[in-house]
Amino acid sequence: MKIAVAGKGGAGKTTISGTIARALARSGHDVMAVDADVNPMLGISLGLGMDGTERLAGIRQELSESGAEDAIHEHTIDGLIERFGEDAPDGVRVVVASRVDMPDHGCLCCGVSADRLLREMEAGGRTVLGDLEAGIGVLTRMQTGSLDVVLVVANPTPKSIEVARRAAQTAVSREIRVLVVANRIAGEEDLAAIRSVLGEHEMAIVPEDAVIARADAEGVAPIDLDENAPGVRAIVAISERLVALPV
Ligand SMILES: Nc1ncnc2c1ncn2[C@@H]1O[C@H](COP(=O)(O)OP(=O)(O)OP(=O)(O)O)[C@@H](O)[C@H]1O
Ligand SMILES: [Mg+2]
Repeated sequence: MKIAVAGKGGAGKTTISGTIARALARSGHDVMAVDADVNPMLGISLGLGMDGTERLAGIRQELSESGAEDAIHEHTIDGLIERFGEDAPDGVRVVVASRVDMPDHGCLCCGVSADRLLREMEAGGRTVLGDLEAGIGVLTRMQTGSLDVVLVVANPTPKSIEVARRAAQTAVSREIRVLVVANRIAGEEDLAAIRSVLGEHEMAIVPEDAVIARADAEGVAPIDLDENAPGVRAIVAISERLVALPV
C-alpha cells in the first residue's frame, strides 16, 4: 500500500506520518517512510533524534557536494533506499527523497524527484508512507492510481482548510482515495469548520495535544514520549483504519 500525507505548511503532516509509520511497524508491517519534503524532518517524528535526522539528510547533501564525477551512482530504487536509507525505531526504514539538484546523469540518486520516486516505487509487500512538502505541488504531479491513499491534514483555520480542500480535490481527480485528518481539534467548533468544507470525505479526528507539541519541542517522537496521549492514540487509530482499507 502506498500512502502520502499532504496539507498546508505546519498542519501536522510530519507528526502524523512519523507516528503512523511507527504504529504500522509495531503491528508487524514492513514500513518504508519516505521524507519527500525539501526540509527533511521526518526522522525526528520517527524517533531518530536531531542528530540521526541531520545525518540522514546529510547523506543526500554529500552526493551533491562530492560532485557527479566521483560519486557512486544508484540506478535502482532499491539501491537508493539501501544507500540513502536508515533504520528508525520499530524497524521502520526511512529515506530522504528530496531532489539533489544536479544535472540528470540518468541515475536515480541524482535525477529523481520526490514525486517520481513515490510514483515509481513499487509497494511490493511494504507499506510506503510519503511525508510530502507543504501545498499541493507533489500531488498535482502524481498520476492516476500511483498512490492508494492520501491523508489530507487540515487544521481548523481557513487557510489550512482551503489547502486541504484543494489537495483532496486533486487526489480525487487522480482517483486516489482521500482520508481527511482533522488535526489539532480543540472543540466542536473546530470540527464544524472543517466539516463544512470537507464533510463529503472520510474523516479522522486528532485532538490538540500538549504531548505532541512537547515532543516537537524536545526533538523526540510523540509515540516515544507518551504512547497513551490522546493525540498519539488518535493517530495510531488512523493506522488501524488504513490497514483495514481494501487495496
Ligand atoms: N495534534 C496536535 N496537537 C498539538 N500540536 C500539534 C499537533 N499536531 C501537530 N502539532 C504541532 O504542530 C507543529 C507542526 O507539526 P508538523 O511539523 O508535523 O507539521 P508539518 O505539516 O509537517 O509542517 P511543515 O509543513 O513545516 O513540514 C509542530 O510543532 C507539532 O508539534
Ligand atoms: Mg513536515
